[in-house]
Amino acid sequence: DKGAYPYYMLKEIDEQAVVARNIAAHYFDEEGQLQGIGCAITDKMKEADRLYIVAAGTSYHAGLVGKRYFEQWAQIPTEVHIASEFAYDQPMLSAKPFFIFLSQSGETADSREVLDNVKKQGFPALTLANVMNSTLTREADFALPVLAGPEIAVASTKAYTAQVLVQAILASALGNPGFDLKAELAKVAVEISAITDEKETFKKIAETALKDQKSAFYIGRGLDAAVALEAALKLKEISYVQTEGFAAGELKHGTISLIEDGTPVFALLTQKKTAGLLRGEVAQVAARGANTVVIASKSLTKDGDAFVLPEVEELLMPILAVIPAQLIAYYATLDRHLDVDRPRNLAKSVTVQ
Ligand code: F6R
Repeated sequence: DKGAYPYYMLKEIDEQAVVARNIAAHYFDEEGQLQGIGCAITDKMKEADRLYIVAAGTSYHAGLVGKRYFEQWAQIPTEVHIASEFAYDQPMLSAKPFFIFLSQSGETADSREVLDNVKKQGFPALTLANVMNSTLTREADFALPVLAGPEIAVASTKAYTAQVLVQAILASALGNPGFDLKAELAKVAVEISAITDEKETFKKIAETALKDQKSAFYIGRGLDAAVALEAALKLKEISYVQTEGFAAGELKHGTISLIEDGTPVFALLTQKKTAGLLRGEVAQVAARGANTVVIASKSLTKDGDAFVLPEVEELLMPILAVIPAQLIAYYATLDRHLDVDRPRNLAKSVTVQ
């Protein structure tokens, strides 16, 4: 039920703060100890010499963020793969691989094909899914819930943030984030609401920067590059504005030639190490006429930025940085009088290869 919301997508964007709290309540006990992830899972994962995250679309983008947690906190090399590619061109695997399937629906045919292949080869697999008791959760050796609650809008929003959060929790069960993850998740939930409270700002950005535009860019570096891919998918899949998500440093190797007067370029700037370089790239596209819209963390912001993101641990910033993009996509689509929840040519669950 949409309640007072005009579209499920907006309701689901707003629900992300509650989802973050629900995930923390499920995976941490009162004392802040992790719970709900059996030793069978963590023992098996610790035996692995490499993790292979396999997923499609938005879930693949969540995996690109999760990779960072498994590598940085758990010290396990991690690869992220597009299911439809992996299924027919399996890369050379390490000696002891462990597979993680990420899926909202648990029914994505491309991912199921890979799981079938992996099982035949005898490798262990864990599914993180929003819909439990789905094919991918039943057929993997292990399954953990991502607890986003029912997601109705075709464009995935809360399932993405939930997948990122649960990967962070799983990685923290294997290693050490170096900060109090439970406390930080409480902060994340508060700050998600602080961003979703700013709807008018994003409505205005969508209605001005994207007005009459047929193409747009999202750029970032590091984790922001991963979020840029998801941000671009959100905008293009519902508003039909052709949007490219780009690792900002790659622009100069070709794509910058697409920049024209007024081309909207959204820059996500939450990673300190590369903030200076990204500022340079923003200046380069601006010099070629782009209409730059910078969304930056509080400590990295400068005069003229379009939105200041509240700050949490830098590695958790993707959870906050994606929300403006979700809202900009929503309002750009509304402004075009399109059906936000049901974009053309798309199904919520892609059960064919
Ligand atoms: C985009 C979107 C899709 C799905 C993809 C995988 O908003 O929803 O890209 O993420 O089809 O679906 P699941 O996660 O159900 O395996």
